[in-house]
Amino acid sequence: MRQHDAAPAAPFTLRLAQVDDISAIEWLDAFGTSPHRAISRDVDKYFGSVDPSVHERNLIFLAELAPQMATDAPFRVVGKAELLLAPTMLISDVGYIKRVVVHPHWRKHGLARAVLEYVVQQAPLLGVRSLDLHVWEGNAAAVKLYESLGFALRHRELYLRLPLAATAEAAVVPTAERAAPDEHA
Ligand SMILES: CC(C)(COP(=O)(O)OP(=O)(O)OC[C@H]1O[C@@H](n2cnc3c(N)ncnc32)[C@H](O)[C@@H]1OP(=O)(O)O)[C@@H](O)C(=O)NCCC(=O)NCCS
Repeated sequence: MRQHDAAPAAPFTLRLAQVDDISAIEWLDAFGTSPHRAISRDVDKYFGSVDPSVHERNLIFLAELAPQMATDAPFRVVGKAELLLAPTMLISDVGYIKRVVVHPHWRKHGLARAVLEYVVQQAPLLGVRSLDLHVWEGNAAAVKLYESLGFALRHRELYLRLPLAATAEAAVVPTAERAAPDEHA
């Protein structure tokens, strides 16, 4: 556990999440931009003793309000960032940052910056030599945050979608009964 020491508007501590934090993490996730996940169904990946040589690991770094901070919120954990580590057998030294979120009430208090600086400090101790992340370019707050920490653009991606006409016939024909493309050739 690390005490934030830069005289922030909201004093908080930074620490790694434990199993007891699952409810707080799920609550906080609801204020983020990432899709829903059932963390309690995947506890081993987050908190278990999985073999790191063959399993990816997901470490969750939290910002927790200091005890003297009064809050009506159900949890004192109000900011987080997650670090995904590839299985060591893949010989990857790139960590992936995801699910960065701060509770709306506590934004602009330096929490996201502090959590990410904590990740940046801890990641080399885990064998990570660089950090990647994706962010929607319209998310000005997040882009500014990441750039201010030194993240630089590697490439832009296009997000494509093909709308499919859902027909009753398509829904009932099992995949196995469909003709393979080369049977029509
Ligand atoms: C993006 C987010 C995590 C920032 O959290 P935060 O705790 O408010 O950020 P901080 O207070 O640590 O701000 C750090 C820097 O980020 C940038 N920033 C944060 N909020 C900003 C805003 N609303 N507008 C512009 N820049 C902003 C600034 O550069 C800021 O530094 P500064 O205060 O010295 O100018 C928060 O707004 C959030 O949870 N958003 C919803 C979830 C999300 O979009 N997550 C990122 C997904 S990729």
